[in-house]
Amino acid sequence: MKIGIIGAGMIGSTVGKLWVDAGHEVRFASRHTEELKPLVAKLGERASAGTPSEAARFGEVVMLTVPLMAVPALARDLAPSLAGKIVLDTGNAYEKRDGAAAAEASRHPHGSAGWAAAMFPGARWVKAFNSVYFKTLETEAHRGGDQVGIPLASDDHAAMDVAAQLVRDAGFDPVPVASLARGKEFEPGTKPYNTGMGGAELRRTLG
Ligand SMILES: NC(=O)c1ccc[n+]([C@@H]2O[C@H](COP(=O)([O-])OP(=O)(O)OC[C@H]3O[C@@H](n4cnc5c(N)ncnc54)[C@H](OP(=O)(O)O)[C@@H]3O)[C@@H](O)[C@H]2O)c1
Repeated sequence: MKIGIIGAGMIGSTVGKLWVDAGHEVRFASRHTEELKPLVAKLGERASAGTPSEAARFGEVVMLTVPLMAVPALARDLAPSLAGKIVLDTGNAYEKRDGAAAAEASRHPHGSAGWAAAMFPGARWVKAFNSVYFKTLETEAHRGGDQVGIPLASDDHAAMDVAAQLVRDAGFDPVPVASLARGKEFEPGTKPYNTGMGGAELRRTLG
């Protein structure tokens, strides 16, 4: 599958590598495309670098993984290219980092993913990969036994199925919950957040 990743930082580069290793084609994007050359050179021919709009157009699925405060400006540029596409949103609201955007996103009735999704009409929004520390993703992918659980929330069940397969391809156990609003249950400050809990415990926790 062709995957665009907007934001090639800790999460974007970590999950992108896991997808390249699984056989997907990944285009990474940031505001500084030149700086992504060493990353894509290391990952090989299935990895490439481009601008955010190139990654948005390239991906059948697009991961949006930038600091939350960058989302409104990206939405103004990219919303038309993402309409109809599956978007995996890794965002978390931290007031110290994201300022007023975080305060607004935290107050949204459907959580920070609902806040972001509202700026991208027609995009098939899935909250994904927001709750696990990137180093846990790096070191625990494809471990034997009870794999690390990745909670997913969306109003679009078919999009969530695709996201679940991408979670498996990356080496983790997808734990879907059936509405985007329920993504609030794994935001910062909740029980599952940043614990790296296995899929079985995560399923019990999220009911
Ligand atoms: N770090 C974790 O363990 C972790 C875990 C789960 C979820 N999250 C969440 O995932 C999101 C990303 O976190 P991160 O830790 O991966 O961030 P990060 O390491 O700071 O990386 C952010 C990336 O976004 C790019 N970026 C920033 N503003 C941009 C813009 N306007 N347009 C395009 N690209 C832009 C940055 O590159 P340039 O500056 O070159 O543009 C960088 O590649 C955050 O909401 C975070 O809370 C993080």
